[in-house]
Amino acid sequence: MIPSALPRSLLVVGSGGREHALVRALLRRPIHGAGAVGPRVICAPGNAGIAADVPCFPVAIDDLPGIVALAQREQIEFVVVGPEVPLALGLADRLQAAGIPVYGPKADGARLEASKIFTKELLLKYGIPTAAAGIFTEVAPALAYLRTRAIPIVVKADGLAAGKGVVVATSLAEAEGAVRDMLEGGRFGSSGRQILIEDCLFGEETSILVVVSGRDYVILPTSQDHKRVGDGDTGPNTGGMGTYSPAEVVTPVLLERIEREIVWPSVQAIADEGMDYRGTLFVGIMLTPTGPSVIEFNARFGDPETQVVLPRIESDVLELLWRAARGELAGQQLAVRPDYAICVVIAAQGYPDNYAKGDEIAFPSVLPDRVSIFHAGTARDAAGRVITNGGRVLGVTALAPTLRAAATNAYAVCDAIGCATKYFRRDIGARQLNRGS
Ligand code: AMP
Ligand code: GLY
Repeated sequence: MIPSALPRSLLVVGSGGREHALVRALLRRPIHGAGAVGPRVICAPGNAGIAADVPCFPVAIDDLPGIVALAQREQIEFVVVGPEVPLALGLADRLQAAGIPVYGPKADGARLEASKIFTKELLLKYGIPTAAAGIFTEVAPALAYLRTRAIPIVVKADGLAAGKGVVVATSLAEAEGAVRDMLEGGRFGSSGRQILIEDCLFGEETSILVVVSGRDYVILPTSQDHKRVGDGDTGPNTGGMGTYSPAEVVTPVLLERIEREIVWPSVQAIADEGMDYRGTLFVGIMLTPTGPSVIEFNARFGDPETQVVLPRIESDVLELLWRAARGELAGQQLAVRPDYAICVVIAAQGYPDNYAKGDEIAFPSVLPDRVSIFHAGTARDAAGRVITNGGRVLGVTALAPTLRAAATNAYAVCDAIGCATKYFRRDIGARQLNRGS
């Protein structure tokens, strides 16, 4: 097959730190020959930091006709979709129908994230390791099932809930409360009309991001997120407070096992079920004492996993995503930098519950070598100042020859950023650092 020429104009859809990292990676193309011109990149809707790098257009991520119209008007040759919501709504289907190549699965593939029950049934059907679970729409049988299982137990809303639809209950009363909340209380709306009650898995979590194109795939560097808001993994779950890569707990032998038992069979199962999946399959894995087990699939890059994984990739990220979108991924190799990467998320005090917006952010005038600030919830006010505009505000990523040096550099920048309501965890990477990395 003759590979198709790389696109010259790209649209990145989204507004988080993940999309800022994607924009930077797509701009940062290795130069192919003297005088090579990089692609034109635009973003919708973006944020203050992305807007400092590329033109941004105020089209909401769920405005599918608006995004297609923007792509057509700007003569975009390739769209890269960041978040799950537009994918689940069918943005990739619409772009393809309009003849615009897209990285990100169609709605059928995005169901792997949009319905935890769909994914659980697929995993069980194909014998891929995952926790035992019951599926319920009625309270009484759900409560009866709970009494037959061990505590802790996990109660999950079926649909998308912005990362908040999972309760890891440490008492029967808490589990019962979660079941009632979801099935009777209307918590999470239609996303919670069906629930999963899943056995609790124990171990360390790792995020395996896989670029998938039909039956072909490329596994990206490993990473580990920190889901809880507080130091020492305390407090409520969040979208992710920080990441590092590589996750050395995933030894080469373990990664081979994850590929053999989880990645390969999952990709084949998805294809066997008739989904022509072209995008990121994010496999959330628990490394249990008896082996790796799937916690969840996401149909997109992770946030903040992307902010450590992409900067470590030496290969041309645009070419990788483009080949996946075009069905030309077979044989694609990945060159990865030997450096360690860490990303510390700066959130607004109070996240993930109530937090203020509109606080001014002051940035250090110079950044240390190989430190990047990725913007997430930021905007510009009328006076042109950068202000907080979301729960997760910034991600500070540092690359260095050791994880410790990367952490030192990232934290120096976190401390130097001025913002009255900033909050960040102090222990990103601590698990691996305490193991002596
Ligand atoms: P999810 O929304 O599926 O990513 O779940 C959010 C978080 O809940 C995961 O990252 C885990 O930390 C935790 N979790 C989900 N399922 C389980 C499980 N079966 N056992 C233990 N923890 C879980
Ligand atoms: N950081 C976890 C996620 O993106 O879902």
